[in-house]
This record gives sequence, C-alpha cells and structure tokens, in this order.
Amino acid sequence: MSQVAIVTGGTRGIGAAISKALIDEGFTVAANYGGNKEAAEEFAAATGAHPYQWDVSDFEACREGVARVESDLGPVKVLVNNAGITRDGTLHKMTPEQWQQVIQTNLSSCFNMCRAIIEGMRERGYGRIVNIGSINGQAGQYGQVNYAAAKSGIHGFTKALAQEGAAKGITVNAIAPGYIETSMVAKVPDRVLEKIVAGIPVGRLGQPEEIARGVTFLVAPEAGFITGSTLSINGGQHMY
Ligand code: CAA
Repeated sequence: MSQVAIVTGGTRGIGAAISKALIDEGFTVAANYGGNKEAAEEFAAATGAHPYQWDVSDFEACREGVARVESDLGPVKVLVNNAGITRDGTLHKMTPEQWQQVIQTNLSSCFNMCRAIIEGMRERGYGRIVNIGSINGQAGQYGQVNYAAAKSGIHGFTKALAQEGAAKGITVNAIAPGYIETSMVAKVPDRVLEKIVAGIPVGRLGQPEEIARGVTFLVAPEAGFITGSTLSINGGQHMY
C-alpha cells in the first residue's frame, strides 16, 4: 500500500518539487497550502497530489489538518516541514508583526506539525521527518534577523527531536537550501541578488528539484541510520 506523506507549502516553489518527487517515488502526497487555492488545485490536477488547506502557524489548524489527512488517506509516514515566508527588513526598521509572522510561520509551524503527527509515528514505530531550514539560518543574512532566527531554530529543533525519535524508528533531519530559483528569491532586489549569485561557487541559483532530491534520499526506508543531520544544498556558497 502506498505510504502517506505530508508536505507543508507543498503546492508551490520548493514544496511543489518535493511533492512531485515523492509522488514519483510512489507516495500518496497530501500537499498542504496556505491561501492560494487556484495554484493548489492546478498543481493537484497536474500531479495527483491531494491538496489540503490549513494555516501551519495555527496549532489547532494543524491538529485538525493532520486528522483530516489521516482519515482520508491513512497514517502519515513522512512529514516535510517546508512552508515558509520572508518579511525582510533591517532590524532598525522591522515591526513586531514582521518578526512574529516569520517566527510563527517558519518555526512554530514545525512544532505544530510535529506535535500533530508524532504520537502516531511513535505508536507505529516508524517515521521520517524532514525540516527545510536555510543557508541563512546557518550563516545569517543582512535584512533577515527574523528569518535567520526561525531557520536557525529549525536546525536546533531537528537535532533535539532526532534524539527523542531515535529509539522509536523516527528519523528527523534538516535540509539547508541555498538560493533557489523560486518566487521567494525573485523578491530579492536584482542588485542584491547579483552579488549573492556571484558568491555561489557553482555559479547559478539552485533549482527546486535539487532540494527535492535531498528529501527523497532522507525519507527512504534505507536512511534509518541518518538522523539529526543537516544536508546543505547551496552550490558551495556556505560549507558548514
Ligand atoms: N551586506 C551588507 N550591506 C548590505 C547588504 C548586505 N548583504 N544588503 C544591503 N546592504 C546595504 C546596501 O548596500 C545599502 O547601503 P548604502 O545605503 O550604503 O548603499 C544599505 O544596506 C541599505 O540597503 P537597501 O537599499 O537594500 O535597504 P532597504 O531598506 O531598501 O532594503 C533589505 C533592505 C530589505 C534587507 C534588502 O536589501 C533586501 O531585500 N535584501 C535581500 C535580503 C535577502 O537576501 N533575503 C533572502 C530572501 S530568499 C530566502 O530567504 C531563501 C533562503 O532561504 C536562502
């Protein structure tokens, strides 16, 4: 029987590539999305993903969302916490709203989603969790104290939960993407992005599929000895 995977933010950008790659590997994919229903339905029709709307920054919504997926599709074996936003700005101009939105959506979402799936995974003695961090959580980035703090938090969260899951057959790993060609990166001003790309040894932005490749590697049943690790996929921009 096909195994069920949830990908948050799974209908656009890196998340869409992850959903597609998991479908190609034979998973039944619940692709969560926040607000863009049209894009989600189009993506689902094209790929066979099952679209589910809920707000990952809302604890109760995650609990209900996971319950809906499990009752429709079956127990969740794989969770990819990918949903994320930017609200860039230097600290001296940053509002509390910019701080809170990014912390809630990018970091608290990992708690909300993992809390909702972890008891089932523990009972079944199997699970694969992949959290999407960032190069900017490893190295920091001008104009991103909120995003860097949230993504750095994801890396610590991953290592702590990996220790808790290890004896229960649950692996927890992170991927730290560099600059990937998505609408998020397209928002970076051109003159800033040019400088960033000049600092990437591979000489280009990454593609969403290059992150998805890391996810399929980490969620394989054969990857049971890989836990608490961070896989950097950044074209050599930051070797950590
Ligand atoms: N390092 C040092 N100085 C920098 C800098 C940098 N990386 N970026 C900008 N500055 C400097 C500018 O040169 C400028 O200096 P001068 O006034 O002396 O010319 C000053 O900071 C102000 O810059 P801006 O005019 O850009 O200021 P702003 O307030 O309009 O915008 C900003 C600031 C919002 C941070 C803007 O520079 C920006 O969007 N930067 C990109 C941030 C970024 O990389 N975000 C990543 C998004 S993608 C992502 O997050 C995915 C992932 O995981 C990798």
